[in-house]
Amino acid sequence: MPGSEIMTPILVIGGAGYIGSHMVRMLSHEGFQPVVFDNLSTGHRECVPRNTSFVKGDLCEAQDLEAIFKKVRFEAVMHFAASSLVGESVQNPMKYYENNVFGFLNLLKVMLKYNVKNFIFSSTAAIYGEPKRVPVREEDPKEPVNPYGRSKLMIENILNDVSKTTPLSYAALRYFNACGAHPGSETGEAHVVETHLIPNVLKVASGEKEALTVYGDDYATPDGTCVRDYVYVQDLCRAHLLALKALKRGMQSDVFNLGAGKGTSVKEIINMAEKVTGKSIPVEMGRRRPGDPPILVASAEKARALLGWEPGTSLEDMVRTAWEWETQSQHRGQSQLSTAAIACAPY
Ligand SMILES: NC(=O)c1ccc[n+]([C@@H]2O[C@H](COP(=O)([O-])OP(=O)(O)OC[C@H]3O[C@@H](n4cnc5c(N)ncnc54)[C@H](O)[C@@H]3O)[C@@H](O)[C@H]2O)c1
Repeated sequence: MPGSEIMTPILVIGGAGYIGSHMVRMLSHEGFQPVVFDNLSTGHRECVPRNTSFVKGDLCEAQDLEAIFKKVRFEAVMHFAASSLVGESVQNPMKYYENNVFGFLNLLKVMLKYNVKNFIFSSTAAIYGEPKRVPVREEDPKEPVNPYGRSKLMIENILNDVSKTTPLSYAALRYFNACGAHPGSETGEAHVVETHLIPNVLKVASGEKEALTVYGDDYATPDGTCVRDYVYVQDLCRAHLLALKALKRGMQSDVFNLGAGKGTSVKEIINMAEKVTGKSIPVEMGRRRPGDPPILVASAEKARALLGWEPGTSLEDMVRTAWEWETQSQHRGQSQLSTAAIACAPY
């Protein structure tokens, strides 16, 4: 545990969610003091460690933010909270502009008011839309094809503008496909509406679902199925730590792709899941989904060069940790992972 960092309070917005709950553990392990702020709309109180300060609050309620900033002097804010279902964003764009953009503006205002300078933002590969070339580099065109991606790009643009005239320094981290779970299964992916491939494949392996729908096998890819860049959730969190340390050392505000830099097809994921679980995964062939590019792979060179980030976890390890989490959460009973608040630590 690096002594110099002991008990530095870091506000983790969305720390009860999938990626945020991993981040909270890593921050504690590294000697920081994470404070979770979450409205539990898609997160789970049980995914926040008992000894971590938890505030139930909503980004869209400015007074909830004001109350916590008044009490604690934060060194940095990590902002994971968002509505993040692509299909829902097309059906209900106002929800996305309100929760993601308006919520972020409330947060930004209170950070500026209390002079909290370091900010790490969960952005997404969705801001690129259908990329013109792969691997995708940070400077490539940003043409999001849905309100979710547009809401994230708006936030990046606001950060860029505001950081030029205020002390704010930020790192916008554009995740590709986050996957896997905590190596000790303390937390993992537990979205109420699960749209991600690996947990859905594993739900078929565990018998929770009958078959996996594959959306198209006639793409111009080696096996006809879509190719994506799967990055281990712990590797993502490691990048946040590196970005935090770099900002504290005075790094200029910047944007980084976070992907493993390697493409994996839907069929390869299914094969790996069959290997890890020892079960066969029945597949149903569905139609292509509009806006699904054949290949989406990151260039992670910039994060490697400037942050020293090394996303080295194998696909097998990512799928294995996800499987361990999936089987253990079945034992625990998913229903216990509620989105309702239970006794919250004071803060
Ligand atoms: N999971 C991925 O593969 C992926 C890929 C790219 C980007 N991202 C981004 O990473 C972030 C985290 O994703 P995740 O998969 O962990 O999502 P998640 O839904 O599991 O976590 C989001 C958390 O934010 C909380 N939250 C939402 N709105 C809030 C509000 N108004 N006030 C307070 N809390 C609120 C939720 O309750 C939840 O705990 C999101 O911003 C998402 O857009 C995720």
